[in-house]
Amino acid sequence: MKILVINGPNLNMLGVREPDIYGREDYSALCAVAERACAARGAECEVWQSNHEGDIVDKIQSAYGTADGIVINPAAYTHTSVAILDALKAVALPAVEIHISDVNAREPFRQLSYAGMACIKTFAGFGLDGYRLAVDYLIDYIKESEEK
Ligand code: DQA
Repeated sequence: MKILVINGPNLNMLGVREPDIYGREDYSALCAVAERACAARGAECEVWQSNHEGDIVDKIQSAYGTADGIVINPAAYTHTSVAILDALKAVALPAVEIHISDVNAREPFRQLSYAGMACIKTFAGFGLDGYRLAVDYLIDYIKESEEK
């Protein structure tokens, strides 16, 4: 089983970026959480990040036929990108949305998620541990679907 973990803009700045909101751990710590969670379940893992909307669309498309599921933190594009929503719908792979911060407790504009409309579940406000929760939920979902 292969899980693709996609991270959007500014997540490469973790540790430096607004530490009161996103914590002091850096992007490599995020990658380690996701990789460890996949390895614990015997799944292959690719963690990928881009600051560019079109590149994220291309990466989602590349998952078609090559990955079994997607964990995605579209970052700011969560709240603006119909293109990312459409790409997730196009590949029709099970996807789980994750946000480090509790987006629902922040500014009103963060409470709309386009990507979330194509996801089976959202984890928000659990810090980097949200990546572990998202990976576990997604792998359980894929395994259950395979049994049916
Ligand atoms: C974020 C929340 C978004 O609103 C914000 O634009 C981000 C990070 C999070 O992980 O909490 O860049 O997705």
